[in-house]
Amino acid sequence: MDPVAGARTFAVSGEAYDAFMGRYSRPLASQFADFAGVAAGGRALDVGCGPGALTAELVKRLGFAQVSACDPSDSFVVACTERNPGVDVRPGSAERVPFDDARFDVALSQLVLHFVSDPAAAGREMRRVVVPGGIVASCVWDFAEGMEMLHAFWEAALALDPDAPAEQRVMRFGTAGELSQWLSDAGMEEITETAMSVSSTYRDFDELWAGFLAGIGPAGSYCVGLPPDRRERLRAALNRQLGEPIGSITLSGGARAARGVRS
Ligand SMILES: C[S@@+](CC[C@H](N)C(=O)[O-])C[C@H]1O[C@@H](n2cnc3c(N)ncnc32)[C@H](O)[C@@H]1O
Repeated sequence: MDPVAGARTFAVSGEAYDAFMGRYSRPLASQFADFAGVAAGGRALDVGCGPGALTAELVKRLGFAQVSACDPSDSFVVACTERNPGVDVRPGSAERVPFDDARFDVALSQLVLHFVSDPAAAGREMRRVVVPGGIVASCVWDFAEGMEMLHAFWEAALALDPDAPAEQRVMRFGTAGELSQWLSDAGMEEITETAMSVSSTYRDFDELWAGFLAGIGPAGSYCVGLPPDRRERLRAALNRQLGEPIGSITLSGGARAARGVRS
């Protein structure tokens, strides 16, 4: 399996990512770091760091010298490095983490596992790089209902195309218990799982729609791959799905997180 396949739709600038997803992943990062127990004095790794929403939260808590990160997207390695000077950011995937054994007290991945080709290898690798007693934690969107922006998009797409590759249908790890099972399969112990929630406010529907036109992730990639007439019908369907809002729109993002301890 090609570990870089999941990164192909993330070859974009940090700014484009922020307008689409970083607006959610920044507030999520502080909740996730709290849940994972990231505290001063530890060394942390951000796996699948993107342009660095979680990396920045880790730097705030631990200092740049204690934080490392990796991502298979070259543009995100550059963006994360620029945004987090002094952090050791390396190209690399979760399936083959580019750091030595037992280097960290905590290894985290935020909104990444959905895109990983070989999650079992990723679990083994994240366990490998933490010390005995160290923590591996991961969070993903709750696709059942929880991520309103993506849910509304795919409901609108499915109304026009029953074969649309809706993330809530095709992605693993979006429902309760899956992350815990992943940690257990990786040999982690003392596993706990929780739900988290964030939100983001858009100026108007046009701002929301512009995010999809950047082609990021499965939704953006599907959107920009449509011929112009079908894309326009999708835009109208999404607007209807959201109740034809006038003015600002606030959407929530529900996520699931799990953590475990290496014995
Ligand atoms: C939705 S973004 C999340 C980025 C960042 N963690 C955040 O919270 O904003 C998904 C990230 O997973 C990365 N990715 C895709 N496949 C991966 C893999 N096999 N291993 C590690 N990261 C991967 C992408 O390049 C992208 O940066």
